[in-house]
Amino acid sequence: MSHQLISSISSRRAGRAITDQPIDRETLTQLLQAAHLAPSCANNQPWRFVIVEDESVLSQIKEHLTGGNYWAKVSPAIVAVASRVDLDCQIPDGREYHLFGCGMAALNLMLQATELGLIAHPIAGFKSRPIKEILNIPEDFTLITLIILGHSTQDHGRLSEKHRGEETAPRDRRPLFDVAFWNRFDFVVPKADSSSS
Ligand SMILES: Cc1cc2nc3c(=O)[nH]c(=O)nc-3n(C[C@H](O)[C@H](O)[C@H](O)COP(=O)(O)O)c2cc1C
Repeated sequence: MSHQLISSISSRRAGRAITDQPIDRETLTQLLQAAHLAPSCANNQPWRFVIVEDESVLSQIKEHLTGGNYWAKVSPAIVAVASRVDLDCQIPDGREYHLFGCGMAALNLMLQATELGLIAHPIAGFKSRPIKEILNIPEDFTLITLIILGHSTQDHGRLSEKHRGEETAPRDRRPLFDVAFWNRFDFVVPKADSSSS
């Protein structure tokens, strides 16, 4: 049977067991090309990437990860994804598309990394201001995510007990039809529990 995209989508995981083995520029460029082929509103291409593989810049960035992202400290390459609201469609009724576009580009990058046998794990757990300064990202840009790259390893010894469990746990998703509805939006927002107040 021909290779199906769903198999890459299914095998992509936000893995944490990675090694410090370098990733060459050719491979990193392939990941960026995949990201850059993402669709965007009016083809605005709102994504801006900073690919960090210089050892001294990497180590400065790693000082500003949250404690829970200790596992990312061995990463040989990190992609910072930044954008600004005026780089993409702003529809007068309030819709702004730059984050959406960057999300699609980021997923393209992650899926291509999966194809190449790499881990590409997006994180929000970092201090934005100092990292933007280190990377020369202007203040009025949002640093949306850092994508932590690395070769995966079966050695889970560096991971916390919780993360060791998550590394091999089955996919955790809500039932499909809690989030998808035929023909009519049917999501009931859970009511706040008034008895506990
Ligand atoms: C925007 C975003 C921020 C995330 N931030 C973190 C993070 O700071 N640390 C972390 O370990 N994982 C982080 N993750 C990974 C998610 O926890 C993970 O994607 C989710 O649990 C689903 O697991 P899966 O990607 O393996 O299917 C983040 C993912 C996204 C998309």
